[in-house]
Amino acid sequence: MTDNVTVISHPLVQHKLTLMRRKDASTADFRRLLREIGTLLAYEVTQDLPMATRDIETPVAPMKAPVLAGKKLCLVSILRAGDGILEGMLELLPSARVGHIGLYRDPATMVAVEYYYKVPEDLCERQIIVVDPMLATGNTAIAAVQRLKESGGRAIKFVCLLTVPVGLAAFRDAHPDVPVYAAGIDERLNDHGYIVPGIGDAGDRLFGTK
Ligand code: URA
Repeated sequence: MTDNVTVISHPLVQHKLTLMRRKDASTADFRRLLREIGTLLAYEVTQDLPMATRDIETPVAPMKAPVLAGKKLCLVSILRAGDGILEGMLELLPSARVGHIGLYRDPATMVAVEYYYKVPEDLCERQIIVVDPMLATGNTAIAAVQRLKESGGRAIKFVCLLTVPVGLAAFRDAHPDVPVYAAGIDERLNDHGYIVPGIGDAGDRLFGTK
């Protein structure tokens, strides 16, 4: 096991994950559950956002009240399955800026190939939260975070639904400064680089393309 990961063991997350894993879950259910888990993961991953105090007046009395210190957020979705988590996170973080990275896995080599990249210009000032349901071999996650660092990203967290020890280890070796948040750590990868037992192809299940 690696030490760069926080597993979100909240009962709601675990229950919803089980519902998503079932092969007979409909596209509509899978989509809704991924969005709901995205919202719950947003709650967990923002626990350490810096706070400040503001003077306000309630109907009864003035008070000094806690507010977010204004640390600017940027959510970065790895296309296309990342959008399922992104949607749920935006429910809770509606002002966050959003970036997209298009990467696909070459099925023969498992190497990540970039086809799209659009992120806010002021990445270096933002807390970046990268989202992708599956951290499998780690190749895509490693490439995405590398690209963000090259664009000036400094404070980066990676949020996924499922991962495996081998992918986590590869990611930690490449980016030891980037903590990973996951709803579960599964056993292994199969010969096609899919997580076992996993959820299957997250993009296909989210968009109903297979
Ligand atoms: N990508 C997926 O969609 N599923 C996996 O199991 C691994 C990578």
